[in-house]
Amino acid sequence: MCGIVGYVGKERCTDILVDALRKLEYRGYDSAGIAVFESDRIKTVKAKGKIDEGLAKKLPQVTFSATCGIGHTRWATHGEPSDVNSHPIGNGRVSIVHNGIIENYRELKAFLTSKGYGFESETDTETVAKLLDYYYEGNPIEAIEKALEDIEGAYALGIIFREHKNKIFAVRKDSPLIVGKGEKASYIASDVTAILEHTKDYYLLERGEIAILDESGVRFTDIHGEEIEKELQTATWDVTSAQKGGYEHFMLKEIHEQPEAVRNTVSPRVKAGLPDFGECGLTPEKIRGYKNIFIVGCGSAMHSGMVGQYLIEALARTPVIVDIASEFRYRDPLVSEGDLVVIISQSGETADTLEALKLSRKKGADTLAVVNVVGSSIAREANMVIYTNAGPEISVCSTKAYAVQVAFMYLFAFAVAFANGKIDEAECKRLTAGLLEVPEKIQACLNDVSQYQYVASHIFNADSLLYIGRGLDNALSMEGSLKLKEISYIHSEAYAAGELKHGTISLIDDGMPVIVAATQSALFEKTLSNVREVKSRGAKVAVICCKTADIDETIADYKVELPEAEDMFLPMLSVVAMQLIAYYTAVQRGCDVDKPRNLAKSVTVE
Ligand code: F6R
Repeated sequence: MCGIVGYVGKERCTDILVDALRKLEYRGYDSAGIAVFESDRIKTVKAKGKIDEGLAKKLPQVTFSATCGIGHTRWATHGEPSDVNSHPIGNGRVSIVHNGIIENYRELKAFLTSKGYGFESETDTETVAKLLDYYYEGNPIEAIEKALEDIEGAYALGIIFREHKNKIFAVRKDSPLIVGKGEKASYIASDVTAILEHTKDYYLLERGEIAILDESGVRFTDIHGEEIEKELQTATWDVTSAQKGGYEHFMLKEIHEQPEAVRNTVSPRVKAGLPDFGECGLTPEKIRGYKNIFIVGCGSAMHSGMVGQYLIEALARTPVIVDIASEFRYRDPLVSEGDLVVIISQSGETADTLEALKLSRKKGADTLAVVNVVGSSIAREANMVIYTNAGPEISVCSTKAYAVQVAFMYLFAFAVAFANGKIDEAECKRLTAGLLEVPEKIQACLNDVSQYQYVASHIFNADSLLYIGRGLDNALSMEGSLKLKEISYIHSEAYAAGELKHGTISLIDDGMPVIVAATQSALFEKTLSNVREVKSRGAKVAVICCKTADIDETIADYKVELPEAEDMFLPMLSVVAMQLIAYYTAVQRGCDVDKPRNLAKSVTVE
């Protein structure tokens, strides 16, 4: 969590730093701050709250001519959101910005206190700043090397020393950090989207490497100060793809980008009409050899795994275990050599997911990362990687990244079924062709949003509601429910429709909204009997189904119609309806859609 940035060049850096921080606010927005070289001092301005509510209001009161500085946007872990707990943190001699968690900060604090240091904040970060100061005797690299020997935990650090004017030092372990190379300036950032406006060229900083940025450019050393060469990368994302492009919110923009995102994920992996994951070495022979398939992720990513489980088991008749990463990593899972563990993550930085991946590797399993952010920790740690090509997802609430994870699950299920001889080539080609048509159908769902707005206008005042469905619709309902509660703060639960009568149905009373996904013909009548059960107890029911489905006002209060498609693909369309219902509900409630309270986009703490 947290976003860090740094700039050194010829221009005044304040606005550049603040603009870059705005692009990283999805990583946390409890506070923001900058520290810059001004005359012979380090000047710091920081404030609690989102950038526009705090830092941006304070800055005009201070005039800076500085051309080098570091900045931070915080998601609080140690210490409440407050001015004093905001970064940059330092003592006038050293100032740092930090993303990650220092696990042994208590011991470090005790040690530093015994050496006469006092502490102002409740943060773990302050121990790093003071430790650097303690070891600093004129040589920054030596101080960094010694401090890092003492530190346990995860970090990406941007560091400035007062005596080394207009120089930034950067180092990382387990938290992401890139170093941007412009024509006349250099940057550090937690994520390349922060600097795309200035440059597309960047270096991926690896563990144990130090970047030193000054007006002449960037150089790298190992932890002992030995110079190293690094390969320059070029971002394929452009600056407009990281901006709102005329939409009111990033979430709405990203929902509308789903046709393209799904196309970009699926099309490159179809060769001669069949799924092809040769790019990462996942051949049919390899697939045939796996004993068990595990799918692990958090939140929406895990929900996409649930869709994968239904599809793989139904088509390939192979058992699939889906798990939440934070559970998987602590329950000594029965993973071993010969198994495949599919690790799903948009950011590629989720701490629990990363640890689940490391554990799987330790146990001898083959690991396949399905990740959106190129060069992220999970992508680099796995044996095989599939990039989901959704482009940057800025809204904290995942939409297009989930859609492409689900699209991958379909293609993967077809590949496993074909490799295991459960479907023949003609059927595999037919299914793959069906998936290639999904982007058009998603587009059709987006062309007229009035039905989602209509449902939203009837639920936005609710205190609580339920999502129900069976089979694939159950997996999708979990995602629909998460979207709604995450951004509108209406309590909502997803339930397997047939399970309601075992307890949860007692929640139903007059006027309680129930959103039903009923896209699967084989389960349609069964689901309708559950609809009757809740409706006869006073629920207001909205049914999301294919437009040809036989639903009238005696069954449902609202019918949300999806374009015609093969049953199997309808859940990819119903999720669009659920995303938009959640979006318009949150807008009507006046919620901060892109930055819901208490959340951050990239959860790099467990
Ligand atoms: C919900 C959401 C989260 C993420 C989860 C995993 O809208 O975005 O539930 O899906 O935090 O994040 P990644 O995919 O980055 O590992």
